[in-house]
Amino acid sequence: MAEIRVDGARLWDSLMEMGRIGATPKGGVGRLALTDLDKQARDLFVRWCEAAGCAVRVDRMGNIFARRAGTYDGLAPVMTGSHLDSQPLGGRFDGAYGVLAGLEVVRALNDAGVATRAPLDVVAWTDEEGARFKAGMMGSGVFAGLQDLEAALANPDDEGKTMGAELARIGYAGTEPVGNPVAAFFEAHIEQGPVLEAEGIPVGVVLGGQGQRCFRVTVTGEEGHAGTLPMDRRKDALLGAARMIAALNGVAFAHEPHPVITVGALQVRPNSPNTIPGQAVFTIDSRHPDDDTLATVAADMRAACEDIAAEAGLEVALEQTTSRGSLVFDETCVAAVRAAAERLGTPHRDIYSGAGHDACNLALIAPTAMIFVPCEKGISHNEAENAKPEDLAAGCDVLLQVMVERAGAAG
Ligand code: GLV
Ligand code: MN
Ligand code: MN
Repeated sequence: MAEIRVDGARLWDSLMEMGRIGATPKGGVGRLALTDLDKQARDLFVRWCEAAGCAVRVDRMGNIFARRAGTYDGLAPVMTGSHLDSQPLGGRFDGAYGVLAGLEVVRALNDAGVATRAPLDVVAWTDEEGARFKAGMMGSGVFAGLQDLEAALANPDDEGKTMGAELARIGYAGTEPVGNPVAAFFEAHIEQGPVLEAEGIPVGVVLGGQGQRCFRVTVTGEEGHAGTLPMDRRKDALLGAARMIAALNGVAFAHEPHPVITVGALQVRPNSPNTIPGQAVFTIDSRHPDDDTLATVAADMRAACEDIAAEAGLEVALEQTTSRGSLVFDETCVAAVRAAAERLGTPHRDIYSGAGHDACNLALIAPTAMIFVPCEKGISHNEAENAKPEDLAAGCDVLLQVMVERAGAAG
């Protein structure tokens, strides 16, 4: 089995073709979840999967499952995949690599005429990035039972369009129930950090990931005339938010080792140059490998925002939108990834994930592991994101090995 190799050039070509959908001027991708561009990417993936002989199903969350039949189709599938949506100014590999690596596994097995006992599913999860609907890993979250389906479908974007309505609009509001048994889940992904490239190692064996807590913070003040209301009488919500954002950065540096704290989205109302802002809403994304520290950080962040609000005569409300603990992947799946890299003679090292992934949700319901490959200078969530074809192929080769091993080669 070690002699079956994926076609690295075909994988690369598919990534480049997918990367043309939503291509940005600086070589990246802007393909927000459930937009027309997301639909185009989904359609292309479905077309490729059907051409590779897969049966495609779509569940009510819009998750797409492409199944390569096994010889014992009653068995739960061995699953792989990731996401096709991107950040507003994202890269060509974050997510798309994991989806198309799964497709390449299917294509390579077809070429080699290898059947597996259990079926193989390649999945494109809905809205991993959370950029548009402000809560990430939605499709896999509902699949894993972490989130309620109806609540997820009712989730609005900034314009009030709901996930459910947008799924229907792009033709991906499927009819299949969400969630079914999974024998094992493997996700291939670029590292999104600098470690593998710096050490010249093509494959990262991912041991687990850090915890994450996200909040939506609403700061309320009072609108007023920019020309007439004296400075000492103002209740400027944006000024309060700005002070809170600076204080949150301070909270990160007050803990050792530092958590990472990001305020990445901000809305101002009424957003007019000559009206004092009456409301500011911003997001907080905080992460740390230690769950107790993350809880303390959350308390410190809340206190910092409330102190500033009280001082400035503003109201503030913090609503927690995401809470996930740090995670250790399944020992046998991790060992299988390591052993496959070993068998293939591919240099590898153990590594932790700083980013969140659909695999973190799947890990709660099925044996799960991830395979990382290097990306240039560790840059991700950036149009400049880049990766080498040979590294992408090396990770995909490992993926093929672990999937076939787990599904069982048919006699
Ligand atoms: C995924 O993109 C994350 O925010 O970690
Ligand atoms: Mn990703
Ligand atoms: Mn991402």
